[in-house]
Amino acid sequence: MMKRPIIALDFSNKKEVDIFLANFPENESLFVKVGMELFYQEGPNIVTWLKSLNHDVFLDLKLHDIPNTVESAMRGLGKLGVDMTNVHAAGGKEMMIAARRGLEAGASQFGKTPILIAVTQLTSTSNQEVREEQLIIEGLEASVCQYAKLANDSGLDGVVCSALEVDMIKQKTRKDFVCLTPGIRPNLNTLDDQKRTVTPQMAREIGSTFIVVGRPITKSDHPYESYLSIKKQWSGE
Ligand code: C5P
Repeated sequence: MMKRPIIALDFSNKKEVDIFLANFPENESLFVKVGMELFYQEGPNIVTWLKSLNHDVFLDLKLHDIPNTVESAMRGLGKLGVDMTNVHAAGGKEMMIAARRGLEAGASQFGKTPILIAVTQLTSTSNQEVREEQLIIEGLEASVCQYAKLANDSGLDGVVCSALEVDMIKQKTRKDFVCLTPGIRPNLNTLDDQKRTVTPQMAREIGSTFIVVGRPITKSDHPYESYLSIKKQWSGE
């Protein structure tokens, strides 16, 4: 199947998602990202509804709690049929191992294990914050690498990262470590609030495994056309 960009469904309720999805042909299977905003309004049903429409779902809830709680929560998310979900690497190795165990147990009925990735440092966090607030004197890049290695050692599939960090992270982990990169702009003149962005084609060349694209599709006057053009650039086909 041609590689698809993951569409960030940054909407506040199901009705808005429904209106947005009406821009796409009914039989087109999309890969969508559901984040906290939508999930906390609509609850688990938003996932089962999207799955019933034959879409793949990345549930971006960034779990971070004690291992036992994360394991139980992940079991529940696995049962929803999510295709990908995530945790904060800062929760530690034991938490990540527990997350994987819970997710696998929950998803066992579907016959395939969902992809589990970790957030290292949020890209909203600066080098200065890492040093001064977190007291990590080696700084942001060292911390991102350390968390990526920890996620790999914990049996996770990969991390969320900036496209500009992909090379460094793969070198510290492995070539097929999943690097999911947001901050994608087909036209680098339209940045919204994103700062260090790359085009879909650049992301492919850099070696991103997945790209997440929000506003260039959701706020487009012609969402389906924008989607197809980004998909073409991303897959290179
Ligand atoms: O609209 P835009 O393409 O900027 O949306 C990007 C999506 O990826 C949003 O849902 C945003 O929250 C998410 N994201 C991000 N940067 C990160 C992690 C997640 O933009 N480092």
